[in-house]
Amino acid sequence: MPERKRLVILGSGFAAFMLLKKIDLRHYDVVVVSPRNHFLFTPLLPSTTVGTVEFRSIAEPIRKTRSGDEFIQGTCTAIDTENHRITCQSIDPNVGFTLEYQILVIAVGAWNNTFGIPGVREHSYFLKELSDARVIRERIVSCLERADIPGIDEEERRRLLNFVVVGGGPTGVEFAAELHDLLEEDLDRSYPQLRGKVKITLIEAAKTILNSFDEDLQDYTAEHFARQGIELRLGTPVEEVGDGYLKLKGGEIIRTGLIVWSTGNIATGLITSLPFEKDRAGRILTNDHLQVGSHPEIFALGDCATVAGGNLPQTAQLAMQAGKYVAELLNREARGKSIKPFAFNNLGMLAYVGDSKALADIPKAKIHWRGIITYIFWRSAYLTRLVSMKNKVLVLFDWIKTAIFGRDLSKF
Ligand code: NAI
Repeated sequence: MPERKRLVILGSGFAAFMLLKKIDLRHYDVVVVSPRNHFLFTPLLPSTTVGTVEFRSIAEPIRKTRSGDEFIQGTCTAIDTENHRITCQSIDPNVGFTLEYQILVIAVGAWNNTFGIPGVREHSYFLKELSDARVIRERIVSCLERADIPGIDEEERRRLLNFVVVGGGPTGVEFAAELHDLLEEDLDRSYPQLRGKVKITLIEAAKTILNSFDEDLQDYTAEHFARQGIELRLGTPVEEVGDGYLKLKGGEIIRTGLIVWSTGNIATGLITSLPFEKDRAGRILTNDHLQVGSHPEIFALGDCATVAGGNLPQTAQLAMQAGKYVAELLNREARGKSIKPFAFNNLGMLAYVGDSKALADIPKAKIHWRGIITYIFWRSAYLTRLVSMKNKVLVLFDWIKTAIFGRDLSKF
């Protein structure tokens, strides 16, 4: 048997996970390095913030993905392209390590963009990881409990019960929708005294929400949110965030118990530090085989990269296809075969907008669906796309459990 090539994969998101699932371990000696030891099915992350779906139902441990690969929990901090070596920080802050590679795949995702707005990191919650969803869920319950303390000052109660979402992209919209469902379906049973006192406000700098979706679907969502009592503040950039408040352009102050910040992505520190060609958003530019410039042994894919001239979206779907493509490229290369350039097959976008309604925007098929039937389609699509049988069964049970017993509002 020929000697196996050392393949180092950085990351454990959609791109890295798909590559890991498909790579031929007879030809490659694979090491995965990532600060997160599980794959996370992020499309259902907003559902976990309110308990519609439980946290572990959408996580898949990386160590169980394949037998024969190696996983090291750590963060790559530097890449020495000349000597084919990476430097990493382990989860022990006092221990670092280096690894040599023959092939390197950079799939490290992106960070939350704060646009440098003061106070965002200190006083608001992001929604990218399970740990984010867990603290948001705790914060929601904490606000409800504190607002229910007998004799609480009325103004303080109003503040605690004003939940604010900043950013009207799919993340912000889906979180607002899930929060609405929790308040609509579970508040009466658990906090009857707070009925009618809770408010959700979604603040968006642009004139529209969901601007990567079809215009009709944007309008539908705005009207649907208005019917659900979610206040939309459009054309209103947030300029400052503080303890319990945020300040809008123009000076208006909004007092709030919870701020979820979802204004998009920015390149990670590692990607910014690399001397590769980048696009305006700071993503690594690759060739059409997803390789980096003059380094055919380095691939970059997922949210941290884009194909030069490709105008590709930053979605889980693209990352999955890219991960599969690189696996196929390497598997074929090991057998002495070549492969056609990467071509993204845009299967469209889905989004949940609350009250058992969803959107499906599939431009290729001229489909712009919305409503309850689309919600069934949304659920079926995500159920089939979940990456393991365990996840599928758990999510299905979570949905059934929520429909019968409601959401669990305990805090511990
Ligand atoms: P996004 O980049 O799609 O949206 C961020 C929004 O925040 C923008 O509308 C922007 O105008 C607004 N914003 C920026 N600064 C602001 C400020 N200071 N005040 C108020 N608003 C401000 O971000 P998101 O939703 O996190 O999505 C990231 C990527 O992931 C996108 O490419 C998106 O398409 C994709 N995604 C797709 C999903 C789906 O298809 N269901 C689900 C989640 C993410």
